[in-house]
Amino acid sequence: MALDAAAVRAAYPALADGYAYLDGAAGTQVPEAVIDAISAAYRAGIGNAGGAFPASERSAALTAECRQAVADLTGGAPEGVILGPNMTTLTYRLAAALAAGWGPGDEVVVSQLDHDANVRPWVQAARRAGAAVRWAEVDAATGELPAGQYAGLLSERTRLVAVTAASNVLGTRPDVAAITAQARAAGALSYVDGVHATPHFPVDVTALGADFYATSAYKWSGPHVGAVIADPALLERLHPDKLIPAPDTVPERFEQGTPPFADLAGVSAAVEHLAQLGGPAPGSRRERLLASMTAVAEYEGQLFGVLAGGLAGMSGVTSYGKAARRAPTAYFTVAGHAPAAVARHLASREINVWSGHNYAWELTGVLGIRDSGGAVRAGLAHYNDRSDVERLLAAVAELAG
Ligand SMILES: Cc1ncc(COP(=O)(O)O)c(C=O)c1O
Repeated sequence: MALDAAAVRAAYPALADGYAYLDGAAGTQVPEAVIDAISAAYRAGIGNAGGAFPASERSAALTAECRQAVADLTGGAPEGVILGPNMTTLTYRLAAALAAGWGPGDEVVVSQLDHDANVRPWVQAARRAGAAVRWAEVDAATGELPAGQYAGLLSERTRLVAVTAASNVLGTRPDVAAITAQARAAGALSYVDGVHATPHFPVDVTALGADFYATSAYKWSGPHVGAVIADPALLERLHPDKLIPAPDTVPERFEQGTPPFADLAGVSAAVEHLAQLGGPAPGSRRERLLASMTAVAEYEGQLFGVLAGGLAGMSGVTSYGKAARRAPTAYFTVAGHAPAAVARHLASREINVWSGHNYAWELTGVLGIRDSGGAVRAGLAHYNDRSDVERLLAAVAELAG
């Protein structure tokens, strides 16, 4: 199965503006099918959930379909899919619920590789509970997060291990399964940040051993909705703060307020879009997703080889991260030019990239670049093609010489 890049690009109306959208790591564009699904939901009429009239039943159906779609994408159970505004909000919510059971003497393990959204909620919750924080360290030269160090970080006091499935700047993909296995053996839960990994690779939360897996649909062609996937039996044991009249069922008890029903239709459409990326294929949607996301990984990996190879060939360019397993995300500086100035130059050449720490707060501190403007991030999505990469390389070469 291979991606038809031209057909994929034609599905995204926003790409018609001619820009090279290399900002997917900060948020992807959405295909026509997602836009249509959202507008179809509003056109059909939606009501708040729990009513006796058809528009209300439609909202309930959109929510159920969305849970099923996210479960298909990640390999979880629909009853364990918590929906919310974004990963950060959900992680703060889960941290508060989990930390209700923590106290002095307990420990949590976070990593220097993670986006701050999978660090600060745990650090702050631990501080409030009187629990201690232990840090898994990044090898600054390679960008690796060695799984072996967790043996020395875990003990019977560890309550939770928070780790990313892929760094949002270096792309590093740690050996999450090895880390969660050690956490489980120590009696700790694991919270895996899948925000940057989900758009690029097939995901199986069971194989990852993740007790909680967080993802954000707006990073994989959907609207601004976040999700956390967990075993429903584990969620039954947690009791987050909630309004008295709000449902106390799982997963609803973790969802605050009225959901964005039309956007949930967009999330389902995004999953369906991903399932079709590799073209027509037999099997369940889960099977089609595993095949199409494998094709996405292959396609993006080849394109990333061109991007990384091109940057490596420029004498004034420093690229960060050389992990063995990586998401297709380049993070680089150009000698003599501030990262923000490089981003502005690229924008003048109709190329969208980000610069700065990109919330990889601890990591950019370890790399020693946080206070000097971080670096430039160019992240690939499945709708990028060789012309996007070549435009970027040509524009960087104008500065790098
Ligand atoms: C790896 C990673 N984790 C977490 C987040 C936060 O996600 P959200 O914007 O859904 O809160 C991001 C957003 O950029 C991210 O890239």
